Amino acid sequence: MLNKIKELIVEVEKFQADSAESVEQFRIKFLGKKGVLNDLFLAFKDVPNQEKKAFGQNLNELKTKAQEKVDALKESLEQKEESAGSGLDLTMSAEPMRLGSRHPLSIVKNEIVEIFARLGFTISEGPEIEDDWHNFSALNLPEEHPARDMQDTFFIQTDPDVLLRTHTSSVQVRFMEKNEAPIRTLSPGRVFRNEDISARAHCIFHQIEGLYIDENVSFADLKQTLLHFAQEFFGKETKIRLRPSYFPFTEPSAEVDISCNICKSKGCNICKYTGWVEILGCGMVDPNVLDNCGIDSKKYSGFAFGMGIERITMLKYQIKDLRMFFENDVRFLEQFTKA
Ligand code: DAH
Repeated sequence: MLNKIKELIVEVEKFQADSAESVEQFRIKFLGKKGVLNDLFLAFKDVPNQEKKAFGQNLNELKTKAQEKVDALKESLEQKEESAGSGLDLTMSAEPMRLGSRHPLSIVKNEIVEIFARLGFTISEGPEIEDDWHNFSALNLPEEHPARDMQDTFFIQTDPDVLLRTHTSSVQVRFMEKNEAPIRTLSPGRVFRNEDISARAHCIFHQIEGLYIDENVSFADLKQTLLHFAQEFFGKETKIRLRPSYFPFTEPSAEVDISCNICKSKGCNICKYTGWVEILGCGMVDPNVLDNCGIDSKKYSGFAFGMGIERITMLKYQIKDLRMFFENDVRFLEQFTKA
């Protein structure tokens, strides 16, 4: 008798079922009114007294195990049904997370900021809606100055004193008005010009302005700073070339070219077969500008430069059409993975 119960316990332990029907059959066989357990309980009264204890213990174990088995099998079958019903396979591994990537203009802006931050430049910002003084007059561009035509301006409403800034040079004015020399600041931001949109121009684009003011700052400092930047950003073998130019706010002024990093100066359509590509405008801050902004031009001198972030990004990644920066096509954007 005792051995029979032990065998039944093993049978219960081993039992598996993949359908509700076989669980029910199992339940009836063991726990039903005419089931195995009932018979055994009926037989209990005929068991000799000295065996009753062991018999009873085993019988109870069999009953608990059978009941537990039925409950567990029912639950797992219900779970399977639920997940099948909702179309979910809960055993599948989780979806991989799709991380976005930074916009190429942000990547390049951050890289430029990092390079100058290592030279002690801090970041400053100014408003995109400007007044005439900060965008033009303080920068040595009085009313009627012909150089104002170099940058086609968007005016707001009919008030000629309210405009969208045409360059980030307005931020150097604001910074000098609020801060004492020495100054080392970098001003990235959006600028606006009334230009037709094409592969090479847009009415909205981005610039970074640099300003360095101290005692005895010379043109050599400017040149060395820009050479350092060009080599950090475009590679150690990069050369720079300064061409005399004109900006009302700097004297002398220059435009800076780098040796073409695409054809290694052998000549290609990016550098128009000259071996050089222009990257920025710069110069020694005109003493009038320093005085306009409350900096003593007898004591201090300094340099400034301004570069277009789109232009630098196009050179770095060999992007041929500037409009791609604004289309936000993910097939374009996801190619730039650097965080
Ligand atoms: N503001 C000029 C532009 O938008 C760029 C520039 C040239 C900025 C010379 C400067 C500078 O600070 O010194 O074309």
